[in-house]
Amino acid sequence: MDKLLIAGGVPLSGEVAISGAKNAALPLLCAALLTKEPVTFTNVPHLNDIGTMLKLLAQMGVKVSREAAQGTTKVGAGDTVTLDASGLNNAVAPYEMVKTMRASILVLGPLLARAGEARVSLPGGCAIGARPVDQHIKGLTAMGAEIAVEQGYVHARATRLKGARLFTDMVTVTGTENLMMAACLADGETVIENAAREPEVVDLANCLVAMGARISGAGGDVIRIQGVDALHGTTHRIMPDRIETGTYLCAAAATGGEIRLTGASSTWLDAVIDKLMDAGCEVIAERDAIRLKAPKRLTAVSIRTAPYPAFPTDMQAQFMAINAVAEGTAVMRETIFENRFMHAVELIRLGADIKIDGNTAFVTGRATLDGATVMATDLRASASLVIAGLVAQGETLIERIYHLDRGYEGLEQKLVTLGANIRRVK
Ligand code: UD1
Repeated sequence: MDKLLIAGGVPLSGEVAISGAKNAALPLLCAALLTKEPVTFTNVPHLNDIGTMLKLLAQMGVKVSREAAQGTTKVGAGDTVTLDASGLNNAVAPYEMVKTMRASILVLGPLLARAGEARVSLPGGCAIGARPVDQHIKGLTAMGAEIAVEQGYVHARATRLKGARLFTDMVTVTGTENLMMAACLADGETVIENAAREPEVVDLANCLVAMGARISGAGGDVIRIQGVDALHGTTHRIMPDRIETGTYLCAAAATGGEIRLTGASSTWLDAVIDKLMDAGCEVIAERDAIRLKAPKRLTAVSIRTAPYPAFPTDMQAQFMAINAVAEGTAVMRETIFENRFMHAVELIRLGADIKIDGNTAFVTGRATLDGATVMATDLRASASLVIAGLVAQGETLIERIYHLDRGYEGLEQKLVTLGANIRRVK
């Protein structure tokens, strides 16, 4: 298994390109199931999760073609992927694929709406929490689907879904996306209340509208969808990855660096940029780029994660790494996932001063961290260990980095471009 070896202490400097957003691309690829016409996506990131989703769609009979932008494989250039679901013939998402990627549940709504039937394996638990899919099932049932959960599979059937008024018990991102996609082909109007307002939901809605869907309100907490009989093909550019952007900003902040991220947008990063400025960084938003200049020593910043537009849970681990070397004590509260502090024990191995009490972490910054061997436990936890390794004195070896390959395109190449001393070892 691959590992990452980092020799810390180099302030990051220079410029890198931000890739297309994983969490926008995954639901968008599933949206292609809703039409018999080809749908083309540009700015698709090279990530293992994207490969898994394309495999999943291909085994359903979807024709997949993928080419690197302008014939290159340059990191950050983005692929062009065309999906043709006219030959959809197998509405099944098997356990072997779903277990590696929870977002596979996003095929449920589109399959049911287009094929009238779907068998999708339950994703099961994952490292950061139980993450059930009851809200997806509740919404589709309210739209008239007959759903049975048997032998670990959600088996859903409906001749045609019916528009309905839906309310989710909590804000769920993939739940909102699944229900919004299903409602596009339903009979009549669907209203999703307590909808997720994440920018990835808006990117999906924009693509669906370009495919002929009638959606209003995406980006707010009430989304209205007027069902139509069929959707058509389109071409859609995937939005930049706001979490990747935030991760590089944190890496530059923690190392006392100065970087410019191109192809990035500050529009969806207010909560993160605000905290980086509170920490003492200078952040300048340009038209399609973001610049950050770090102070000599950061100031600790307290955060509380919550659904968009509040501080994202997917940036909590990276901020724990920067608080570990900041001046002062930060109180960090995680309100979305029940078990999302696993990086804390690994950061402590690097010398961080962190105390955990339930869903709250108290992080007191130290002047420096010491390199050690640590283990990545999930995607964003891995990112926090990379940031800590970039700051730590000496060498840090990160094990189980397959998590990073799921969600960060060309991480080492990009960090090397920024001057980091990092390499992959077998
Ligand atoms: C998405 C993101 C993930 C991010 C998370 C929260 C994708 C592919 N993944 O995950 O990176 O960390 O949003 O911003 O976009 N819940 C239920 N029942 C449900 C659905 C959710 O109890 O049916 C709970 C979850 O356990 C969790 C909370 O609701 O505690 C929010 O989860 P949700 O927004 O659904 O996360 P994902 O969509 O899986």
